[in-house]
Amino acid sequence: MTKDIEQRKRDHLKLAQDDSLKFNISAGFDRWRLIHNALPEIDLQDVDTTAGFLGKKLNFPMLISSMSGGFKESLAFNAVLAEAAENVGCALGLGSIRAALEDKFVADSFLIARKKAPTAVILANIGIAQVREGNSLQKTINFCSELKADGLIIHLNSLQEAFQPGGDTKFRGALAAIETWVKNFPLPIIVKEVGQGLSPKVIQRLENVGVDTIDIAGAGGSNWISIEKERLPADQRVLKQTAAEFSDWGEPTAEVLAELSTTTTVIASGGLQSPLDLVKSLALGAHLGGIAGALLKPALSGNPNQVIEVLQTWQETLRLAMFGMGVATIPELIGNHALLKKND
Ligand SMILES: Cc1cc2nc3c(=O)[nH]c(=O)nc-3n(C[C@H](O)[C@H](O)[C@H](O)COP(=O)(O)O)c2cc1C
Repeated sequence: MTKDIEQRKRDHLKLAQDDSLKFNISAGFDRWRLIHNALPEIDLQDVDTTAGFLGKKLNFPMLISSMSGGFKESLAFNAVLAEAAENVGCALGLGSIRAALEDKFVADSFLIARKKAPTAVILANIGIAQVREGNSLQKTINFCSELKADGLIIHLNSLQEAFQPGGDTKFRGALAAIETWVKNFPLPIIVKEVGQGLSPKVIQRLENVGVDTIDIAGAGGSNWISIEKERLPADQRVLKQTAAEFSDWGEPTAEVLAELSTTTTVIASGGLQSPLDLVKSLALGAHLGGIAGALLKPALSGNPNQVIEVLQTWQETLRLAMFGMGVATIPELIGNHALLKKND
């Protein structure tokens, strides 16, 4: 991998921690509140937060969203996330494996995840540019087999690429390429954005070509246009100013969820800031919630216990919110709009 790509990945981990580069708009969960039920007619011990995902059982419906891999420091980072996922029983998405397809010496920064999380749901991740190229299908199949991955995420990031020096902005034919991979890939394919969100119309188009799991990755949290704006050289004044115009561009995650009517499995990531946002996501119709930015600092501490504590708080909040609403199981919670009241 070239030094440029390595440096870009380091910049991303650093800049994604900067709250001033996040969206000003929220993901929209603050427009809803969960309704308290003083007569839940269940015992706390009846509450069961487990959920099925890709043929495995999760202790609660949570995905650690794709973040990193492919350079030296990301080995420790992914080891920490994987140890935490295995400990709490949630799913783990890895960062883009592009670098590992080009250079087998960086593959360990991904493969460490399976060593640290032998039973967890682990998802590999690749960009649409590599999917469109067409010559990476077999390499990706081989890599996923080595990783013992449970699925492959394809990410769509048109505007991030547009604001990235040397970014790949060829998106013509992307949907057809996804369709080809869905038909030929031996594992489930999940399609996501990276923070600008999949709109209900795009989700419908993905469903039409056979995609049965999507991750909204909507607006409200980590913001890749603002992050790329910071990385643009000072002499790119016009592009920098243009990026500023797009600082709140995207589909807020809760808004997409509220408008969705789909038979696909839906992961809600993008701007889930607090554990109750996970509960609201599920009541709005998501099958799983996903967080990236909220885990970045604990993961970079190098101490898996810090990540475990955050995830345990999300799980415990879900369990007690279910008790507070009188809901015993996750299937009873998913898409149950009667549990929500919209703020005026
Ligand atoms: C440091 C960092 C690196 C990321 N790298 C990837 C990536 O390689 N592939 C991908 O699909 N998404 C990537 N994302 C996007 C996240 O998976 C997620 O969709 C997005 O950050 C929105 O979630 P959040 O608001 O909880 O951060 C990255 C996010 C962060 C914070």
